[in-house]
Amino acid sequence: MVKRLLIAAVMAILPAGGSAAVPEQPKGKGIESRDYRWNELTGEEAEALRRKGDAQRGRQAYEVCQGCHRPDGSGRPDGAYPQLAGQHATVLIKQMTDIRAGTRDNPKMYPFSTPHVINVQEIADIAVYLEGLAIPRHNAKGPGADLERGRSLYDKDCKTCHGANGEGNAAKFYPVLAGQHYPYLVRQARDIRDGKRRNANPKMVKAVKGYSDGELEAVSDYMSRLALAKKRKPAK
Ligand code: HEC
Ligand code: HEC
Repeated sequence: MVKRLLIAAVMAILPAGGSAAVPEQPKGKGIESRDYRWNELTGEEAEALRRKGDAQRGRQAYEVCQGCHRPDGSGRPDGAYPQLAGQHATVLIKQMTDIRAGTRDNPKMYPFSTPHVINVQEIADIAVYLEGLAIPRHNAKGPGADLERGRSLYDKDCKTCHGANGEGNAAKFYPVLAGQHYPYLVRQARDIRDGKRRNANPKMVKAVKGYSDGELEAVSDYMSRLALAKKRKPAK
């Protein structure tokens, strides 16, 4: 009940745009700072990782996210909002807590993810809930013009971390890329290359550093077509 009122309050505030009532995202120390260390596992991230998530509670807490990320977690084909279903819980927790700490810029989402809206336990709950959802196969794919080049780049520079089928690595916080929307993949890969995604992994930055926009598009196109064979069990 209280939660519903809170959601309504956030919604009501937002269109005001620039109103002092909209919580502003803090600016955490990211990759631009000298002493940046990727994924230090401190603060809220460490706390959320320690909690045991509950998928049923997660389904409820996820209500506030649905407007953008869709009820099935599939996001938007135009890439404005990423696909989240079937992502590793560890990755979801890292990204949510990075956004809260301001090491990943996301002013749009920030008002919906403050401690007033979701607490640390709910972060863990949402993460197990989303991890259990099936990865949709109808994600937006690229134009398909340069898939051979995309594949050879992926095999050479990306596969070691993101996996042959885009499965990522839960223990290492490497995201699942299978099922993600092509425009989102391109935007993230470019932001990571250009230092704009401030919570990026420096080794990955090195991997994409020499990439042209055309190469980023080709490899993203290839990644958008990856699919996981293993069927995940749905959240009960
Ligand atoms: C107002 C729209 C909006 C709402 C509401 C919203 N998000 Fe987001 N979210 C975004 C946008 C936009 C991005 C991508 C930002 C970017 O391009 O870097 C994002 C990114 C994410 C990511 C990172 C995904 C990845 O692959 O790296 C996660 C995880 C996430 N959101 C979870 C949530 C959860 C959980 C909630 C609810 C508590 C939520 N979001 C509510 C807009 C929203
Ligand atoms: C050293 C391991 C590593 C390598 C190599 C690597 N990545 Fe990544 N990648 C990561 C990690 C870790 C993240 C998440 C960063 C974070 O913590 O926010 C990521 C994130 C991404 C994302 C954003 C995903 C999302 O859900 O937001 C894309 C797109 C991506 N990588 C593409 C690539 C491409 C293309 C290559 C090869 C050219 C590549 N990666 C090579 C580790 C790697």
